[in-house]
Amino acid sequence: MYQYTQEQLDSMKKVEASRQERLSNLHARMTADEKDAVLKQFHPDYIESAYETLKVGPNKGEKVLHELADLLQGKSRIETSKIDLSKPDYDVDVLVIGGGGAGSSAAVTAHANGANVMIVTKLRIGDANSMMAEGGIQAADKPNDSPAQHYLDAFGGGHFAAKPCLLEKLVKEAPDAIRWLSDLGVMFDKTATGEMVTTHGGGTSRKRMHACKDYSGAEIMRTLRDEVLNRGIPVVDFTAAIEIIKDVEGKAAGAVLQNMETGEILIAKAKTVVIATGGAGRLHYQGFPTSNHYGATADGLVLAYRAGASLLYADTLQYHPTGAAEPTQIYGALVTEKVRSLGAQLVNKNGEAFVYSLETRDVTASTIIRECKGRGNGVKTTDGEGVWLDTPMIDIIGGEGTIEKRIPAMMRMFGKYGIDIRKEPILIYPTLHYQNGGIDIEADGQTTKIENLYVAGEAVGGIHGRNRLMGNSLLDIIVFGRNAGKYASEKCKTVEVKELTLSHVDAFNKELSDAGVDTGKVSPQLLPNYKRQDL
Ligand code: FUM
Repeated sequence: MYQYTQEQLDSMKKVEASRQERLSNLHARMTADEKDAVLKQFHPDYIESAYETLKVGPNKGEKVLHELADLLQGKSRIETSKIDLSKPDYDVDVLVIGGGGAGSSAAVTAHANGANVMIVTKLRIGDANSMMAEGGIQAADKPNDSPAQHYLDAFGGGHFAAKPCLLEKLVKEAPDAIRWLSDLGVMFDKTATGEMVTTHGGGTSRKRMHACKDYSGAEIMRTLRDEVLNRGIPVVDFTAAIEIIKDVEGKAAGAVLQNMETGEILIAKAKTVVIATGGAGRLHYQGFPTSNHYGATADGLVLAYRAGASLLYADTLQYHPTGAAEPTQIYGALVTEKVRSLGAQLVNKNGEAFVYSLETRDVTASTIIRECKGRGNGVKTTDGEGVWLDTPMIDIIGGEGTIEKRIPAMMRMFGKYGIDIRKEPILIYPTLHYQNGGIDIEADGQTTKIENLYVAGEAVGGIHGRNRLMGNSLLDIIVFGRNAGKYASEKCKTVEVKELTLSHVDAFNKELSDAGVDTGKVSPQLLPNYKRQDL
């Protein structure tokens, strides 16, 4: 059971005391200038010392976080001279690397299109950020909304940096993505008359967040996993892709795999390859805790980069405003934005609301950091500082039972530690949540630089620009997963794979040694490094 400190209890009284006043007086929205100012001063993306310039590879000269630079410029896990490519262990049409929502959607779509498809995943199918997504999935499918409106919200929220062709696809195909998921069996929240229940997320001008309570990702992933298994799509689990294989024409043609338990090396030959390896939260950039699953270590970016693919916006990360700050056992775990959609406000140690609850994520996270680090208004926690998220407001606004009905996962997560979020506010602080940048692709999902190499999901860069809105990630794994599956399976009908080669790995190694780079890291990393550094 969690025991509040006296300081926390005293501060909580101030939150309770200001609640009535805050219920009738919402905090004003920020102006564009105010947003810019707080981002520049407090968003972690602006901490220059956290970055370094890449010395080799397609993005040479660009800045990325130290942790990512170490891996992008790391040593391969293989000695190419010891790898025999002449007798592949697997020979398929479409090889999907990654068993989350994007990989599963790609595999299902490719299979439906008649391809011989195989999924390879370093953990198990469904061990992915998709499974952990909570708040919902955006789609403009109500009469008062449109894909154009959705586009404007996402484009502005991403600082006008999204690749227009990708964002256009995302919003236009969103309603069909919801229909597809519904048809597969996803049980979205509906009213008594069968209409989808939709809510706002930060930065949305319409209520277009479709949800399955606050288990949206788990429900979607459950359905996709069933579909993969029902179709009999082979899933090679506990097996990581550790290098992309090309053919002598420089086109992607498979992957070197490694069994995570035995270390055995296996060769998968394929006509087209889909990278769907997800995000990077477990790299704990800048020391942040994370909401991500255990395998989120930026592997796809490393595989693609070493093979010659460009990255887009790899310098920008999303720090979700509300990670749990207490109790320490769940430090960094996601507290869904839906909590704020339903009415909970962010409040400092003095009981003052300091930001409009549904500003975009990067802005909201920055105001929380400002409150703690810049203004001394944070509440001390076991692991640092936090601010209050005033959850009891939800039942006051929405009526008794709203929390239990709409966000039962949150109630359970805190309930395990004796915290009843219907009665007490909770302490939160930003947590590393999403990789805004990733591999650069065209609208057909193919990388800009390597033929027959496709990407889907969080490993893609440019769909959302430099900041993503809530619910557009569950959407992008479906839209771009299906997209990659469709085009990769279409393309493989005309592909003739030539002799396999790993000469690009040798060339990259030479580039590293010519540039005198030795980061001391082997990559892809595959698993987080939680070894005690003092031992
Ligand atoms: O807050 C959330 O539920 C997270 C949603 C998302 O990242 O899209």
